[in-house]
Amino acid sequence: MGRFDDRVALVTGAASGIGRATALRMAADGATVVGFDRDADGLAAVATEVADLAGEPMTTVVGDVSVRADCFAAVEHAVATHGRLDVLANVAGITWAEHVADATEDGWNRMMGVNVSGTFWCVQAAIPHLVASHGNVVNVASNAGLMGQAYTVAYSTAKGAVVNMTRSLAMEFAKEPIRINAVAPGGVDSPMSRGFSMPDDLDYSLMQPYIGFRAMADPSELANVIAFVASDEASRMHGAIVTVDGGLTAG
Ligand SMILES: NC(=O)c1ccc[n+]([C@@H]2O[C@H](COP(=O)([O-])OP(=O)(O)OC[C@H]3O[C@@H](n4cnc5c(N)ncnc54)[C@H](O)[C@@H]3O)[C@@H](O)[C@H]2O)c1
Repeated sequence: MGRFDDRVALVTGAASGIGRATALRMAADGATVVGFDRDADGLAAVATEVADLAGEPMTTVVGDVSVRADCFAAVEHAVATHGRLDVLANVAGITWAEHVADATEDGWNRMMGVNVSGTFWCVQAAIPHLVASHGNVVNVASNAGLMGQAYTVAYSTAKGAVVNMTRSLAMEFAKEPIRINAVAPGGVDSPMSRGFSMPDDLDYSLMQPYIGFRAMADPSELANVIAFVASDEASRMHGAIVTVDGGLTAG
C-alpha cells in the first residue's frame, strides 16, 4: 500500500528539477500523476521515467501556468481523465538575477506572471475539486520569499507573495475540508540553479546572508518533504510554510 494509492496529483513544473522529483516520489507512493509544464519534451521524458518506476504512466498537459485558461485546462484534464483531484503541487517557477536598474517591464511582469499568477490560477482552478476530495495544495515558495535578497528583488518579491498567498488561502478556506501549505527550499541542484548567473559588478558581501553553509540539496530531498506535506501524515498542517533549506533562514 502506498500513501497516495487511489489519489490523483497534479504537479506543475513536472518536466524538471523539483517538479520531476515530486512526480517520481508521488508515483512511487501510488499516486496517479498528471504533469503540467511548458516543456513538452521534458514532460515526455519524465512520463517515461514515471512509467518505468511505477508501472502507470504520467499523463501530461503542455501549457503555461501564467495563462489562466491553461491552468484551468490542466485541472479539467486531470479530473476528466482520472475522475478526481487530491493534490495540487505548484512547483513551476522561474528566476534570474539583475541589478534593480536593469529590470524591465516585461521581465517584471513575467516573473510575477509565472511565480505568482501561475500559482494562484492553478489553485483557483483546483480548489473546488480539492474540497470535494478533502485534498490539499503544496506551493513551492523559496528562502527568497522569507528574507531580503540583493540582486533578486523581483524573484524575492514574487516568492514573498507565494508565502502570503498560501497563508491567506489557508485563512479563507479554514472551515473547508482542504489543506493549503507551502515548502520553501534553499539552494537546490537543478537546471534552474545550474543555469543561474549573476550580473557583473556585484558586491558579494551583500549575498553572504543567503548563501548558507551547506551544499545544495538534491531535488529528491525537496520532493520527500512535498510528498509528506501532501500526505495524510501531515493531516494537521494547514497554512504552514515549511523551510527545507539546510538552516539558511535559521540565523
Ligand atoms: N533550484 C533552487 O535552488 C530553488 C530554490 C528555491 C526555490 N526554488 C523553486 O522551486 C521550483 C522548482 O525549481 P527547480 O529548481 O526545479 O527549477 P527547474 O528550472 O529545474 O524546473 C522548473 C520547471 O518549471 C517549468 N516552467 C517554468 N515556467 C513555466 C510556465 N510558465 N508554465 C509551465 N511550466 C513552467 C519549467 O519548464 C521547468 O520544467 C521553482 O518554483 C523555484 O522557484 C528553486
